[in-house]
Amino acid sequence: MRFVDLIEKKSDGGVLSREEIQFMVNGFVKGDIPDYQMSSMMMAILQRGMSDEEATELTMAMMHSGDVVDLSDLPGVKLDKHSTGGVGDTTTLVVAPLVAACGGTVAKMSGRGLGHTGGTLDKLESVPGTCIEQPMDRFKEIVRENGVCVIGQSGNLVPADKKMYALRDVTATVRSIPLIASSIMSKKLAAGADAIVLDVKTGSGAFMRTKEEAFELAQLMCNIGSLAGRKVRAVVTDMNQPLGLAVGNALEVQEAVELLSNEIAEGDPLYEVCMLLGSQMLQMAEIAADDAQARAMLKAHIEDGSGLKRLQRMFELLGGDASYVNVEGMRKLVAVKRLEDLTADSDGYVTSMDAEKIGTAAQMLGAGRATKEDKVDPAVGLKMHVRVGYPIRKGDILCTLYINREDGVEDAKRLLKEAIHITDGPVETEPMVYGLVTANR
Ligand code: URA
Ligand code: CA
Repeated sequence: MRFVDLIEKKSDGGVLSREEIQFMVNGFVKGDIPDYQMSSMMMAILQRGMSDEEATELTMAMMHSGDVVDLSDLPGVKLDKHSTGGVGDTTTLVVAPLVAACGGTVAKMSGRGLGHTGGTLDKLESVPGTCIEQPMDRFKEIVRENGVCVIGQSGNLVPADKKMYALRDVTATVRSIPLIASSIMSKKLAAGADAIVLDVKTGSGAFMRTKEEAFELAQLMCNIGSLAGRKVRAVVTDMNQPLGLAVGNALEVQEAVELLSNEIAEGDPLYEVCMLLGSQMLQMAEIAADDAQARAMLKAHIEDGSGLKRLQRMFELLGGDASYVNVEGMRKLVAVKRLEDLTADSDGYVTSMDAEKIGTAAQMLGAGRATKEDKVDPAVGLKMHVRVGYPIRKGDILCTLYINREDGVEDAKRLLKEAIHITDGPVETEPMVYGLVTANR
């Protein structure tokens, strides 16, 4: 097989076989296929697309490029959840323990935040002592005892993705839907869960800027999962404004703790998206028969505090100081040198927000990384006071900045002013949830 012929085949719109796709992935990982040929192939995939079968073969070949986690010795349906990345998206820290409290088994590996989106690992590490690097045996022990554990990805999971992503990043091929789907799904399948719920974000703070693209990605990922023998469901949700009101690491853990302490009302967007994701997980695990039953279970385990207990125990088992993981304790972890309110310059309505700019503003305060090597400051970030559609009077607080270092504060404030659009007339607000997607293959 000559790789140049496969590039030509794909660029002519041909369909690659399993053997051809395995040849490509294995050859690239081994270094037999050079970057320039792989770049050319990825551009051909971007332009010509892939069938569901091709995308599944690509996913499987990538998945088998490294370690594959075997969770089969844990009891029950092993559940995982994944978000394509958003701002103020702290659903994992709510849903994972809550589903465990309802009887589910949640074994999840998470990533770090880069750029304007936060990462669950950085949020976990905002609780002192928490160690997100754990040996596989210890990870499973924690899941067995507590029903839930979230840790960092091990070094050997899907090396093909690391190498391909690095190349896509510099060849304008990140946005190919089959390449995104195989990148995400190879990591999810390698992590070993039987059933996976995907939260595909769309809007100004998301990878997928349009709803159409988000649904296309969601459908392809569900079909890949199904063709690979797993249960996968996806929800497409809005990221035209931060999901929760908190944007920052300890600030987002605080919001998750508040939700699990029954201090956030039903109808709140973060609450509703957590319900939706949790409901799908409980239904896939056959713990709940339908959405109404699942919601009732989730709500009951918020109200009786058992979801919060699972979160506290998880921190404890990861070496963290769980005495912070309650409403009182979290206040200590968000203590900063000073707070500053950003206020409205005029009367009107919040007509829209740019979630990416809000995420970037939090990053400038020290909550996120510009490069992989940057350190995050767990306490800093933003607390939003308004959402799209809110009426505003001049002088009203739009958001509060949590500040430890002055560097970057002025830039962050300028960006926030640009990000929160206030105009005269009332506006129609978009729904938080655009739809549920299941496999059609
Ligand atoms: N997230 C991933 O893991 N991979 C992509 O290609 C895009 C988003
Ligand atoms: Ca995330």
